Amino acid sequence: MARQILIAGNWKMNKGAADGAQLIKDLKAQFGSGCSCCCSGAKKPEVLVCPTFTTLSAVVAEAQGSCLLVGAQNIHWADQGAFTGEISGAMLKECGVTHVIIGHSERRQYFGETDATVNQRLKAALKNGLTAVVCVGETLAEREAGTTNVVVERQVRGALADISADDMKKVVIAYEPVWAIGTGKVASDEQAQEVHAFIRGLLKVMFSCPCVADSTRILYGGSMNAANAAGLLAQPDIDGGLIGGASLKPADFATIVKAAA
Ligand code: G3P
Repeated sequence: MARQILIAGNWKMNKGAADGAQLIKDLKAQFGSGCSCCCSGAKKPEVLVCPTFTTLSAVVAEAQGSCLLVGAQNIHWADQGAFTGEISGAMLKECGVTHVIIGHSERRQYFGETDATVNQRLKAALKNGLTAVVCVGETLAEREAGTTNVVVERQVRGALADISADDMKKVVIAYEPVWAIGTGKVASDEQAQEVHAFIRGLLKVMFSCPCVADSTRILYGGSMNAANAAGLLAQPDIDGGLIGGASLKPADFATIVKAAA
């Protein structure tokens, strides 16, 4: 089944409003103005950027009229209330975003994110009409222990608890081996494909309708860059990338997008 490629940039805690708007300008210069972007036709990949909360409005404004989609890096599960430092789905929609990253390993590592809270945040994203990019991935110790599939299965099942086949139309999964994030140690094409195929097989088991497994996009994240993107994106079960460092470099990010076309 032909799934539309998604190339997503996770800016993490980089680029304030002015720098973020400038990066969008630089990306538009790379892709061309309007929605023609650099690619045309059925193979045109979707391109998403995910800045920090304080940069969202400036980036949404600058991205207007281009092919660039804008997402957030987190969402709280409550509609409002005493949750200091958090942002609700309604507030994100007010900023004009259409996507949100959920369960990134850095949030699991530093901020106590669990499979259960990932599930709560996913439900809030779907309730607010946002497309969710749900992150899973094993640590180096888990891979070396041979428990990659056990860990990834637990994370996928936990994240997707009570999620319907219809809900899955707005769910993207990102496989991000923690040991490859920010390290330059990218998973090999074969390593990444193996886990992506496992996740797709798991979706076949979890959802009675085979259409879910066939249509759900599974992105790779973890040191994807201009040099290695083509090999990863050529894998049958890799439907795009969730990119950190390279998404902050307009020419590199554009090269990755063009490799996806
Ligand atoms: O969410 C994407 C990120 O974790 C990957 O980071 O810098 O290894 O591309 P990086």
